[in-house]
Amino acid sequence: MSKIILEMRNITKEFPGVKALQNVNLKIKEGEIHALCGENGAGKSTLMKVLSGVYPHGSYTGDILFNGNVCKFKDIKQSEELGIVIIHQELALIPYLSIAENIFLGNEQAKNGIINWNETVIRTRELLKKVGLNESPNTKTANLGVGKQQLTEIAKALSKNVKLLILDEPTAALNEHDSENLLNLLLELKKQGMSAIIISHKLNEISKVADSITILRDGQTVETLDMKKDKISEDRIIKGMVGRELTNRYPKREAKIGNTIFEVKNWNVFHPLHTNQKSIDNVNFHIRKGEIVGIAGLMGAGRTELAMSIFGKSYGKKITGQIYKDNKEIHLNNVSQAIEHGIAYVSEDRKGNGLILMDDIKQNITLASLNK
Ligand SMILES: Nc1ncnc2c1ncn2[C@@H]1O[C@H](COP(=O)(O)OP(=O)(O)OP(=O)(O)O)[C@@H](O)[C@H]1O
Ligand SMILES: [Mg+2]
Repeated sequence: MSKIILEMRNITKEFPGVKALQNVNLKIKEGEIHALCGENGAGKSTLMKVLSGVYPHGSYTGDILFNGNVCKFKDIKQSEELGIVIIHQELALIPYLSIAENIFLGNEQAKNGIINWNETVIRTRELLKKVGLNESPNTKTANLGVGKQQLTEIAKALSKNVKLLILDEPTAALNEHDSENLLNLLLELKKQGMSAIIISHKLNEISKVADSITILRDGQTVETLDMKKDKISEDRIIKGMVGRELTNRYPKREAKIGNTIFEVKNWNVFHPLHTNQKSIDNVNFHIRKGEIVGIAGLMGAGRTELAMSIFGKSYGKKITGQIYKDNKEIHLNNVSQAIEHGIAYVSEDRKGNGLILMDDIKQNITLASLNK
């Protein structure tokens, strides 16, 4: 039996009107990768925020024991001192700072109040090598794809001598290749003795890396499964998450498909800055009434650019092509016109393009139909 590095006992955490966690128990063995599963809102992120001191001692009840010692973290800094590092669901890098500046933010390599940039860059290089990220320490993180940003976050965690790394949905925004890369890195770090907690909705990934799984449902611990001993199937995990046997994971749907109501012909779009670069090259498609049409492609294939350029030319330059609604050509020169024609767009970057975060739900929901 390996040693227990972390134990969370009877954790209860309430928000006004919501009991997010109710007597939750969690035990992590040293050197294992432990997955935390559960449906949306089950309490996974909240539990990890309690663990890392985002929600300080006193704002929850129950005990946290790390290496057998009771911990009462007042903030993240205190948990980090013990080697507990969390990488949040929403990445927290500062886009206009370089990789090196981000990694050592709040932990500057300094003496007598003066930052040693040489040292910072040298140490960053070592860390980037460890996570397999081939970038200059001076690259701004805004210029990195999400996959590389995620690796930068891990490098940052390693700079803090992490013993228990918590990853909250690390692969949610990654493509298959970057996910694979990240999971392999996690397995490598495990070999070097690091323990990890990973939250993920992707059960195939969990099956690949996890040694054990704890399942949460409605703020309560349902069970902990030992992946090696029990030969756990994905259906078995889902059963724990939803609380009943799944008879039909993808129920058959009957769709009534009608006539073509929307059609895009010969659609061409150029990059907004590099106006000689074609982002969309002669795309054609149509949608019939009652139909859901998927647009597939790798990252960078132009899916978002296609959608946004159609939605009132909100992306791109020198756009040409025709759009037909109910077989009549329409012109969507701006977002208002797109909305008037009954088109809605839910953006990929909800925080950046979709919502005004400082406004309340009512304001946000009604923003697209102020006339009403
Ligand atoms: N700051 C908050 N204020 C009020 N309620 C909250 C807050 N944070 C979380 N909750 C509520 O607590 C419950 C658990 O949320 P939590 O974010 O921990 O779920 P989760 O398992 O991480 O879900 P997901 O898979 O969607 O990330 C939910 O009902 C959520 O609405
Ligand atoms: Mg969450």
